[in-house]
Amino acid sequence: MELDETTLSGSEIETLARKIDRPIVLVGMMGVGKSSIGRKLSGLLHLPFVDADEAIETAAQMSIAEMFERFGEPYFRDGERRVIARLVDGERKIIATGGGAFVNEETRKLILERAVAVWLHTDIDVLVDRVTRKDNRPLLRGGDPREILKRLHDEREPLYSQAPIHVQSSSGPQGKTVNKVLKGLAEWL
Ligand code: S3P
Repeated sequence: MELDETTLSGSEIETLARKIDRPIVLVGMMGVGKSSIGRKLSGLLHLPFVDADEAIETAAQMSIAEMFERFGEPYFRDGERRVIARLVDGERKIIATGGGAFVNEETRKLILERAVAVWLHTDIDVLVDRVTRKDNRPLLRGGDPREILKRLHDEREPLYSQAPIHVQSSSGPQGKTVNKVLKGLAEWL
């Protein structure tokens, strides 16, 4: 489902907030803006916000980069799977996931069953621009970010697209994207 851009009014957002009965989970590639859009949605809908990557770091008491470096990707993925299973507990909240979370079959199934998944997607150029501003993503180290992002995107797209709501994230101000997510939820719920 793709959406037009008319803005939801304050009372429409309040009506939507009352209809939300499950966690809202943002999925999609690294750099698409899941965390910042999640924080904005949380403010508008008056729901708690949880960043799954931060929750994994808190549980492991180390950064994701350190987890990859010291114990490898499978260790991180195992923590990611367990933390997301704990977060998707039926409580109303907004959850931003790391780009690989929805790729795991068990996690994807859980999210699809117990939450409303929203896939945020955008062009590779926008992703490259955003991710190259920071050097905190282990999967992008040791290679050309554009090539890695393109490969991951192609591998993951069929899985991300299983989310019931698809939102094209605009490259400009995030308010537009936030509004599209709200509309997607209002039509879905
Ligand atoms: C990853 C994305 C990252 C983080 C980890 C792996 C991925 O999260 O979970 O570096 O596999 O795409 P963001 O999507 O928040 O950057």
